[in-house]
Amino acid sequence: MKAVKGWLLGRTSYTQSLPGARHHRTPTKKRVWITAVVSLITMFVIGAYMFPHHRNSACYMFSSNGCKALTDWLPPSPRQFSDDEIAARVVISEMLSSPRVIEKTSKIAFMFLTPGTLPFEKLWDLFLEGHEGKFSVYIHASKDTPVHTSRYFLNREIRSDEVIWGRISMIDAERRLLTNALRDPENQQFVLLSDSCVPLRSFEYMYNYMMYSNVSYVDCFDDPGPHGTGRHMDHMLPEIPKEDFRKGAQWFSMKRQHAVITVADSLYYSKFRDYCRPGVESNKNCIADEHYLPTFFHMLDPGGIANWTVTYVDWSEKKWHPRTYLPNDVTHELLKNLTSIDAVSRVTSEGTGEVTWTRCMWNGIKRPCYLFGRKFHAATLNKLIDLFPNYTSMA
Ligand SMILES: *[C@@H]1O[C@H](CO)[C@@H](O)[C@H](O)[C@H]1NC(C)=O
Ligand SMILES: *[C@@H]1O[C@H](CO)[C@@H](O)[C@H](O)[C@H]1NC(C)=O
Ligand SMILES: *[C@@H]1O[C@H](CO)[C@@H](O)[C@H](O)[C@H]1NC(C)=O
Ligand SMILES: *[C@@H]1O[C@H](CO)[C@@H](O)[C@H](O)[C@H]1NC(C)=O
Repeated sequence: MKAVKGWLLGRTSYTQSLPGARHHRTPTKKRVWITAVVSLITMFVIGAYMFPHHRNSACYMFSSNGCKALTDWLPPSPRQFSDDEIAARVVISEMLSSPRVIEKTSKIAFMFLTPGTLPFEKLWDLFLEGHEGKFSVYIHASKDTPVHTSRYFLNREIRSDEVIWGRISMIDAERRLLTNALRDPENQQFVLLSDSCVPLRSFEYMYNYMMYSNVSYVDCFDDPGPHGTGRHMDHMLPEIPKEDFRKGAQWFSMKRQHAVITVADSLYYSKFRDYCRPGVESNKNCIADEHYLPTFFHMLDPGGIANWTVTYVDWSEKKWHPRTYLPNDVTHELLKNLTSIDAVSRVTSEGTGEVTWTRCMWNGIKRPCYLFGRKFHAATLNKLIDLFPNYTSMA
């Protein structure tokens, strides 16, 4: 309440000293006048820093318009980090500062999140063939033991657990995959894929695109609507401020340093584990896999991510689930279209949905956005195998 008093005093002396100063312009009065104004401004700035923005009651004491009008032009108040936050940030920045070394033996870890058998193993086999030593495969099968059709997928299951869509168990499975893949020091890039994902490029193209990119491909954008920031919970404060809450698709591709910080994080993860779910706050339904990683990276390494993902998905039907390609849809033209897309679109959940487009840049150069695509129906396998040599030979 000290700050409030300061403010009120400041205001009172402001209104009182001004007319006085205007009527008697003696040199001393002028100096007093200047001192008063300077100290008022100082107090104002100090006060602005001391007020946490979410203290609405404080705002109403000064402005009948409430916090909105007042906070719009006040500088943001820096918050004192807790010991845990300082520790987390120091450890994370230390991990991020370790140099990235790409060698001939560096591998890409393909991490599959699937309920059971992977329908596209034969296609992946075609994609991986001849590149032994440059990749490794990890499978998190949450329901059934997979039946394999590719030698590269044999005995590559990791110990798994149940996965419920939208819940923290999804993040747990992702972390489990990352942890297992990190055990191989040659894995330098970590790609999360689903059972409905297919490769859109040749192995060499994909390898060079990911290995030599200076950012990780983590999808991240600001959706101020009910399915974006609207899912932020007050319980997540103060570690996760509402203005830092982000959204994005879960299918990432990240460099080793980012995989390490994801596995090491317990502070921010625990906020999502405990509060990002239905039933915490009124009728909000926070979906853990759509918010945890985008928010985490936005807060801790915003410049280190591309803000889009290399896995294509078609949301244009505006349904609860994205479009699934059926055998009739899979043509040379479709694959050519998907591989030539060079901008990503984002739709917010505010109003009728504002659409924005961002060009895909790779180390400062314009390049197509996507290396993988989803969702493809299992029945498209043979058509994709037939078309694979053709569409992956395109530049
Ligand atoms: C991603 O977005 C953040 C802001 O959230 C920005 O700082 C960063 O530069 C963006 N990354 C790229 C590669 O543009
Ligand atoms: C491919 O893209 C062109 C141009 O945008 C469009 O007219 C056509 O319908 C697309 N074809 C498929 C199969 O998606
Ligand atoms: C990546 O490269 C681009 C173009 O050279 C540069 O603008 C950007 O800052 C780099 N980002 C990082 C995280 O090094
Ligand atoms: C790929 O398919 C298209 C259309 O069917 C054809 O025009 C083209 O010659 C094929 N390219 C290769 C490399 O087979």
